[in-house]
Amino acid sequence: MANFPIAEFENQRTPFYFYDIELLRNTLNVIKEHSNRPDYHVHYAIKANVNAVVLEEIRKAGLGVDCVSGGEVEAALNAGFEANKIVFAGVGKSDWEIELGLEHDIACFNVESLPELEIIQEIASKMGKVARVALRVNPNVDAHTHHYITTGLAENKFGINLEKLDEIIEKAMMMTNVELQGLHFHIGSQITITEPFKVLCEKVNALQAKYAEKGVTFKSINVGGGLGIDYDNPDENPIPDFKGYFETFKNYLKLNEGQELHFELGRSIVGQCGSLITRVLYVKEGTEKKFAIVDAGFTELIRPALYEAHHNIENLTSDGEVEKYDVVGPICESSDCFGKEEMLPKMRRGDIVALRSAGAYGEIMASQYNCRKLPKSIYKM
Ligand code: LLP
Repeated sequence: MANFPIAEFENQRTPFYFYDIELLRNTLNVIKEHSNRPDYHVHYAIKANVNAVVLEEIRKAGLGVDCVSGGEVEAALNAGFEANKIVFAGVGKSDWEIELGLEHDIACFNVESLPELEIIQEIASKMGKVARVALRVNPNVDAHTHHYITTGLAENKFGINLEKLDEIIEKAMMMTNVELQGLHFHIGSQITITEPFKVLCEKVNALQAKYAEKGVTFKSINVGGGLGIDYDNPDENPIPDFKGYFETFKNYLKLNEGQELHFELGRSIVGQCGSLITRVLYVKEGTEKKFAIVDAGFTELIRPALYEAHHNIENLTSDGEVEKYDVVGPICESSDCFGKEEMLPKMRRGDIVALRSAGAYGEIMASQYNCRKLPKSIYKM
């Protein structure tokens, strides 16, 4: 069990997020160590978490940002990230979001369709700007992850299908206010095996070779994010295998002389440093099972309800005998359940419980359903 400042928790109103900033710092150091090459550029996928303290640590580490909305571009700029390290993806960019990116001269728009490219050209031309773009290619790679978070299959809404790519590249190269920089890929999230990344490298190599024959080369390749974390063993594996991850690309991806390689990591950077802290309100004895009813619900952490995800549940204040519980929240929906048949030390009213590995896609996906308050956060610096 992680070393939580339980005495500090006792005085706080629950639920709240707890961030271990020391772990985040160590994680960032490992990333820097293994991506320390002039041609590697790591962007933080800010959709995973925009907590100000978390962002400040990531900014200090020198990472860029990957955004998927105008709001995220603003959040990144407000947090002090440099516009020339911001890339902007997303299938449905509104005009104002494109204008915002152009106004600030962001590094690159990751473009997902021909109609989007045409609108970027039109807006850039009106503004007297040149938009740097990368085309997001749907590489049709199976990431072997939950179907809700896989993105690189042909049937997916993301990216440009391989058959359409020639035509769009040709058009992009003719556009006066668009500068085609490269190709962008993202195959999915929570990928815990090497194979899909290897397959991605091979696809990128084949594409680059094909275009080189036609005399088309790219300044940059962006391989997206997706590296997973160990939700089952957060204490044994607090920092993902970044060494192995970056080595896979070093070993399997053929970059041209001087070509840049960009990464967009979200979950692997912030996932393990956050926990949702909640209190047991009631223990209800059903006819067949016991329910531990806690004061956090899917309003604070929606991943179990939305993706059937499991976050380890730890009772931080009980060392009683282990019993079987369904751990549920107070929201008026049956899906508001964090775990079924969890083996936990005797749960009592007032016990403090941690839902682990909640640093990514936790706080940021919180909602006010049932008129609940958005969760606050506390930190171990
Ligand atoms: N780049 C692009 C284009 C993406 O769509 C994503 C995530 C990332 C990078 C970062 O992926 P990561 O390194 O975090 O795997 N809410 C879901 C995850 C959605 C991921 C969406 N795209 C969850 O809680 O599991």
